[in-house]
Amino acid sequence: MFHFQMFFSALLTTFLLSCVQASPSSEFVGGVYAMSNNLDANTMVVYARRRNGTLKLLDAALSTGGKGAEINVGMGFDPLFSANSVVITPDNKFVLAVNAGSSSVSVLEVQPDFSLLLVHVQPVAGLGPTSIAVSGNLVYVSSPDADAAIQFSPDRRSLVVSDLFFGFNALRTGTVNEIVVFSVDKFGHLSTAPVSTATSTELNNAEGRNLPGEIGFEIVRSRDVQYVVVPEARGLAGADGMSPADQVASVSTWRLDSRGRLFPVQLDVPTGSSVTSGQVDSCRIEFSADLRHFWVTNTPSNSISAFSFNRKISSLEEVAATGTFPVDLWRSRDGKFLYPLFAGSVGAFEVSKGGRGAGLTLIQKPMNVPEMNAQGIVAFYLV
Ligand SMILES: *[C@@H]1O[C@H](CO)[C@@H](O)[C@H](O)[C@H]1NC(C)=O
Repeated sequence: MFHFQMFFSALLTTFLLSCVQASPSSEFVGGVYAMSNNLDANTMVVYARRRNGTLKLLDAALSTGGKGAEINVGMGFDPLFSANSVVITPDNKFVLAVNAGSSSVSVLEVQPDFSLLLVHVQPVAGLGPTSIAVSGNLVYVSSPDADAAIQFSPDRRSLVVSDLFFGFNALRTGTVNEIVVFSVDKFGHLSTAPVSTATSTELNNAEGRNLPGEIGFEIVRSRDVQYVVVPEARGLAGADGMSPADQVASVSTWRLDSRGRLFPVQLDVPTGSSVTSGQVDSCRIEFSADLRHFWVTNTPSNSISAFSFNRKISSLEEVAATGTFPVDLWRSRDGKFLYPLFAGSVGAFEVSKGGRGAGLTLIQKPMNVPEMNAQGIVAFYLV
């Protein structure tokens, strides 16, 4: 069911000598990179980022050396049905992007002017990949047959996997694994079997809630406790084309211990005032820099919801921002700006209270992204 590949652990170290530095006088302090996922020739849309959060286009179509794809039932909007299809390495030097149509991962080096240089295309086995997880020099990718996203825990001891078709398989077969955790040994190898699994919603529950379909999630460490925070869509179409009627989307939280065990903290918190009033199909998540807030993209609702986070979560603003089909989002490191990827554009939003609030104000919306098939965005920052 899960196919993982470990590769080029040596490659990334090869490039550690280069170092990106901007002169203090530079107008630009980072980059924002979105992926077109173009089916014929995958490309990156490359922006430099100003101190005030606005973007300047550097390259509208930088080749990744691979091809994009439409996988599962995503089609033109949300084509990969995944999260972390574009990531930044923890050393802040390389952007990794999936070529799901040609079974490879592109390694792009961030240049001093925040443009990207394609330095390597790594072939991987099988269909996809659709999601990338990086820890130190270790890179895992996931295949799309069941996994929507993968991510290492902050303590690096676990690899957490979300299961997009959890809800629909469960409706048909009773298989219930929304979140699956594998342990990672000191050599970087995964446990052959999951060490834990979790779900927020029981089959045939008394509340009549659909089982969740799960794409993006985030693992944060707050006061030395790790939390897995999971947006839950409750009406996506299943692999067989059948879908339950859309219900209000939600967010669930588990604590993740150092042995990879999950403990529920708070389950099925709706995006609105109740499970009958809110946005639908929350698919990705991004935290504020101080971890006190997070935002989720509600892709078919064309909206972004804001939540507060203080171990417990609560809905703060059902619609904090709007935009067409938000499929992904990433914030600047200082927390002052949030960059969602919409169909046809990138949104540059200023976060209220200098990054300490949850409010979002649109400051720019460059339209350089293709309207169809784009997926994946990251914001690069100077340390
Ligand atoms: C950001 O800075 C640029 C360049 O100085 C300027 O043109 C733009 O108006 C500024 N935008 C905001 C929202 O401050």
